[in-house]
Amino acid sequence: MKSFHEPPSSEITDEKVYLQRRRYLRWGAAGALGLAVGGVATLGLRQGDEAPQASEAHPADPPPKRWQDLPHSRFSTDEALTDWESVTGYNNFYELGAGKEAPARNAHRLETDPWSVTVDGEAERPGKLHLEDLLQSMPLEERIYRLRCVEAWSMVIPWVGFPLAALLKRFRPTSRAKYVAFETLYDPSRLPAQNRPILDWPYREGLRMDEAMHPLTLLAVGLYGRPLPGQNGAPLRLVVPWKYGFKSIKSIVRIRFTETQPPATWNQLQPEEYGFYANVNPAVEHPRWSQKRERRIGEVFKRDTLPFNGYAEQVADLYKDMDLAKQF
Ligand code: MTE
Repeated sequence: MKSFHEPPSSEITDEKVYLQRRRYLRWGAAGALGLAVGGVATLGLRQGDEAPQASEAHPADPPPKRWQDLPHSRFSTDEALTDWESVTGYNNFYELGAGKEAPARNAHRLETDPWSVTVDGEAERPGKLHLEDLLQSMPLEERIYRLRCVEAWSMVIPWVGFPLAALLKRFRPTSRAKYVAFETLYDPSRLPAQNRPILDWPYREGLRMDEAMHPLTLLAVGLYGRPLPGQNGAPLRLVVPWKYGFKSIKSIVRIRFTETQPPATWNQLQPEEYGFYANVNPAVEHPRWSQKRERRIGEVFKRDTLPFNGYAEQVADLYKDMDLAKQF
């Protein structure tokens, strides 16, 4: 994020944007029929390619059975989805390498079985949850959200997940819990770039309690109806759609209720560039570039960036007593 990299020109393809929604719908039908998906096949979609095999579109593990008919969230946007290739091939996940294509290349290193998440701090019932129990017990749904990166690009991603609030309530946060802190796995054997001091590992993020409990705040375990690929933050990542993407911390192993504002990786590194709140705000410039416009991956022309990434109606009230130019 320290420098702004334009994506390769191969991603600026009208045709993908035009076709990707139909591809997704088709894939959904294939999933419902229980077609097996195996092997890594060509990702590209050619014009006139009416009926690609599911394996061509989504070279990941087959979805668990109960994922085949997920309820669609009323919070979803109906904007065109960013294609699978870009969502899973153009990533920021510094632990798997700097550069947009490195995370996908190195994702095989991120072994996620077994996986557990510790929830502690200011809570009556702190504990540790195994991923399988979490997946079994949480009400999964599909949510299509815009993701706006602080680097001025954006995507539309169909997540599979559940509201963070539904999980947090189970641990009974006390009245002293004012914030929620999150931590990514620290294990250089599985996240090899942690061997280098690119950032202060592990990656950390935080939300104010009301932000964490907001119904838009999602814990994602999948995308495009599949378990999360490693490069997207397998097996469990945060998605806060009205904030810049760096708040949406990946591969979470710890959630902690705190009384005071917790440290957040980018905010600590360069507080004048990356605020703790990091609400998408076209009126507040990044010191090195404008935030007024953004490039939707797959589109040629830039579009205006919307306050709170278009979610102002739902979240602006959370900040009514703040000066968002100062507390950005
Ligand atoms: N989480 C961790 N642990 N490490 C990271 O480098 N990058 C962030 C965020 N979460 C990052 C992370 C940034 S800058 C963005 S824009 C989003 O993940 C990108 O998510 P995506 O690759 O799934 O699009």
